[in-house]
Amino acid sequence: MVTVTGFFAVGAAYAEHSDSARGRLRHDLVERRLHAELPASPVRILDVGCGTGEMTIRLAAAGHQVTGADPDPRMLAVAAGRLAALPELRGRVELVEAGIGGLSFGREVFDAVCCHGVLMYLDEPGEALARLTERVAPGGLLSILAKNRRAIGVREALAGDYESARRLIESEADRSPGNLGLETRGDTAETLDRLTAGQGFTPLAWQGVRIFHDHLDDAWAPGRAAYEAALELEWAASWRSPYRDLGHLVHTLARRPGRSRS
Ligand SMILES: C[S@@+](CC[C@H](N)C(=O)[O-])C[C@H]1O[C@@H](n2cnc3c(N)ncnc32)[C@H](O)[C@@H]1O
Repeated sequence: MVTVTGFFAVGAAYAEHSDSARGRLRHDLVERRLHAELPASPVRILDVGCGTGEMTIRLAAAGHQVTGADPDPRMLAVAAGRLAALPELRGRVELVEAGIGGLSFGREVFDAVCCHGVLMYLDEPGEALARLTERVAPGGLLSILAKNRRAIGVREALAGDYESARRLIESEADRSPGNLGLETRGDTAETLDRLTAGQGFTPLAWQGVRIFHDHLDDAWAPGRAAYEAALELEWAASWRSPYRDLGHLVHTLARRPGRSRS
């Protein structure tokens, strides 16, 4: 399994981006869907490629027992620093230095496995999804957030970079420069659903994430009411085609058949 070496250099910039209104929009949409799919009672969750720990912390704050795994010790150090400032989460979060290919938990499985914002840095999604599905318990959930191949060029077009947009669209590119300046690869929701179905999982409805606000930069700083309105608009559109097809990210989920232990 390939690990993204280029990412290490931009980790600090990622933490900053994650905190911006634009970054928050993505986390808020994904978290809302996870809460809708997860049981209200605490369950065991594995967050693979947890980075600086945003979703790990959010899920632990909701009462779940979360293992955050990431191959980059610097990203994990940021996550550990954030956790140190949240003593109420002590005992509910474990951080492990491992990538998708090195998840050595024996036969241990989790009620939910999240892998958000990672597939876009890998050459192809199949091997990663096969490894991730192995960690999902019967009745459990797999949550994938990936770059949307269908929407490549939309960000550039809306931001006014017409030449780049036209080049990406005409060449039917499968990758484009990401937020942090790294080239990232897109997947379609249909491909991800087909791959999880191939592992015996049942795909759930997918959502498009950051449809109308993706081209804004991290300086976008709406007031509280404007942010809430933007969030509700994005949530409403995220389920519906053709809007969701233009989301910069796709959030796909799939359930392993069987009786959940929770
Ligand atoms: C864009 S960050 C996403 C962080 C977090 N999941 C989020 O959504 O905010 C990508 C993360 O993937 C990690 N990563 C890179 N290669 C990986 C691999 N093969 N398996 C798991 N994580 C990997 C990087 O170290 C980085 O922390």
